[in-house]
Amino acid sequence: MVNNVSVLGHGNPVIASTAYRQWSRLNTNSRFNFNAVAEFSERLLAKVPKNLDTVFLVNSGTEAVDLALRLSKAFTKREDVLCCEESYHGWSLAADAVSTSTSDNPQAAQSRPAWVHVVDAPNDYRGTHRGEGAGVRYAEDAARLLHQLERDGKPIGTFIAEPRNGNAGAIGTPRGYLNAVYATVRNHGGVCIADEVQVGYGRLGAHFWGFEEHGAEPDIITMAKAMGNGHPLGAVITRREIADALAAQGAFFSSSGGSTLSSRIGLTVLDVIESDKLQANAAAVGQILTDGFTELMNKHDIIGTAHGMGLYQGLEFVRDHVTLEPAAEETRAICARMLQLGIIVLPTGDRQNILKIKPPLCFTAESARFFLRMLDKVLREGW
Ligand SMILES: Cc1ncc(COP(=O)(O)O)c(C=O)c1O
Repeated sequence: MVNNVSVLGHGNPVIASTAYRQWSRLNTNSRFNFNAVAEFSERLLAKVPKNLDTVFLVNSGTEAVDLALRLSKAFTKREDVLCCEESYHGWSLAADAVSTSTSDNPQAAQSRPAWVHVVDAPNDYRGTHRGEGAGVRYAEDAARLLHQLERDGKPIGTFIAEPRNGNAGAIGTPRGYLNAVYATVRNHGGVCIADEVQVGYGRLGAHFWGFEEHGAEPDIITMAKAMGNGHPLGAVITRREIADALAAQGAFFSSSGGSTLSSRIGLTVLDVIESDKLQANAAAVGQILTDGFTELMNKHDIIGTAHGMGLYQGLEFVRDHVTLEPAAEETRAICARMLQLGIIVLPTGDRQNILKIKPPLCFTAESARFFLRMLDKVLREGW
């Protein structure tokens, strides 16, 4: 239930033969331009809003985030970055600096550099603002911080966020938030990065990218994980003027990022996602999970809420529906029992009380029903 990297599933024969063919022929420095690099970049551009026209190919999500932050800094000539609580963006110095999740880095708050500023996680289930209108209220809080930082002589150059907090358990960004924060950041001369490393690439079913859920358009998109089906591959997509700002500081290149092999694999992953209709599968099978969770929620008090959509879902366990006390120990016990029944599922989030559900996109209806049956059994047994 936890493999958002191998989107096509394990041992995919089409990927294996693509890799064999390309290795048998040529695999070299992506500093040289090969058809595969151009073809793959163009296929990616066909998937993003029209005003984004420049692709950088890298090896991982961390590299993509690091490069995105560098691009934004070069373009805005500003150091300061705004990010959200309970987020993860990677392990490099810059990506780690904007990673706030205490489950990923218990020292996150103490090790944070002065150029990183943090707003509340926009969570309308258990956050500062809840229910209807929460998105607007969270966005107002962000605007207040932006004004304050500008007055303090530290104007924000970059806003980075996952369009849906995948790391915390597919928690939806409340309606109105993303567009409002993007507008405020841009009004203050900043640039907006959508980190699609987890939620992008068709996993949400209804949308290929997470930002599409909000009708929002980022200035920079970072992506990885699913792109290579496990082969190291990531990308940053942005506008030419932003890319040019970095070019003025020196040429970007990565010896193996976007190599001939990686680009061929990237193209093949997109081919299979399309030919096997995996985004539609994510929507259809995801709906079975959503309906199943609604049923389970009526039967088992421990389920507080179900987050997510498509094949990115998070089932949140609480001890009390009013206090929302996180049921972390119970979540761990449920995962342990599920493992005995043949299902790998893990807790996620800063409170470790959410089941992270992100199987490969070839996940079948039969598997979804089996998972729901086993979960029902475990919840009936108790822990
Ligand atoms: C949202 C997000 N961004 C960036 C990264 C970093 O990607 P990678 O592990 O490929 O370096 C991750 C990894 O989990 C992630 O979830």
